[in-house]
Amino acid sequence: MRLILLGPPGAGKGTQAEFIIEKYGIPHISTGDIFRKNIKEGTALGTRAKSFMDKGELVPDSLVVEIVEDRLKEADCKEGFLLDGFPRTEVQALELDKVLEKMGVDLNAVINIKVNPEILVSRAIGRRICRTCGATYHVVNNPPKSEGVCDKCGGELYQRSDDVEETVKNRINVYVNETSPLIHYYEKRGKLVDIEGEQDIDVVSEDIVNALRG
Ligand code: AP5
Ligand code: MG
Ligand code: ZN
Repeated sequence: MRLILLGPPGAGKGTQAEFIIEKYGIPHISTGDIFRKNIKEGTALGTRAKSFMDKGELVPDSLVVEIVEDRLKEADCKEGFLLDGFPRTEVQALELDKVLEKMGVDLNAVINIKVNPEILVSRAIGRRICRTCGATYHVVNNPPKSEGVCDKCGGELYQRSDDVEETVKNRINVYVNETSPLIHYYEKRGKLVDIEGEQDIDVVSEDIVNALRG
């Protein structure tokens, strides 16, 4: 399976990714996670990315494309992959097409998770993430059994620094202006699968599996 997860901030891309990678046995490639790892490790890439991420702006295409291209060349991507949060601009989509062509492979589907903007803000603000294993929770919608502690590994839960109201609203605007044109881009290529994202997490997962079955 070669898949892309498309959708606004807080749509549930990361949440569904946890399920999809397990179900299909493919690696999860989240450009946001890659940048956050680099920030944590204090790399030069992390420092550059942070200045954009803190404002809710996109990291420049030139910094993103090469990272994804290198990652897709790794051995674990031979049988498939799940891209989460990439591509996010038309330039990135065109570059990805070139990379896939060079690899001699094609996408199976672009999963477009649809959620209305009013809901996105409260989802992002209530999100908590495990510092150890990366599992995603929500203080109201999907709380851990014990507050602040990961159910899966006992790790500490934290809040992302860009999950504050003003930044979330900017991220949604950036999505509308720069990323949402990709819906049409992939629709034209017959790859788009629309998924109703305002349902329970398990129902969204089921809809994804059914849609991929064709
Ligand atoms: P990134 O990390 O990709 O963030 P994002 O796109 O803003 O998306 P999120 O991770 O916020 O949302 P999600 O859809 O994964 O939702 P989740 O499953 O966690 O990017 C961050 C930044 O990095 C960008 O702003 C940019 O600066 C930079 N960047 C990254 N990639 C880039 C690129 N390609 N080009 C340029 N810059 C790039 O769910 C959210 C919450 O909702 C959780 O609490 C969850 O529990 C809850 N939830 C999920 N599903 C449901 C449901 N069905 N019902 C109720 N609650 C739910
Ligand atoms: Mg995410
Ligand atoms: Zn954990």
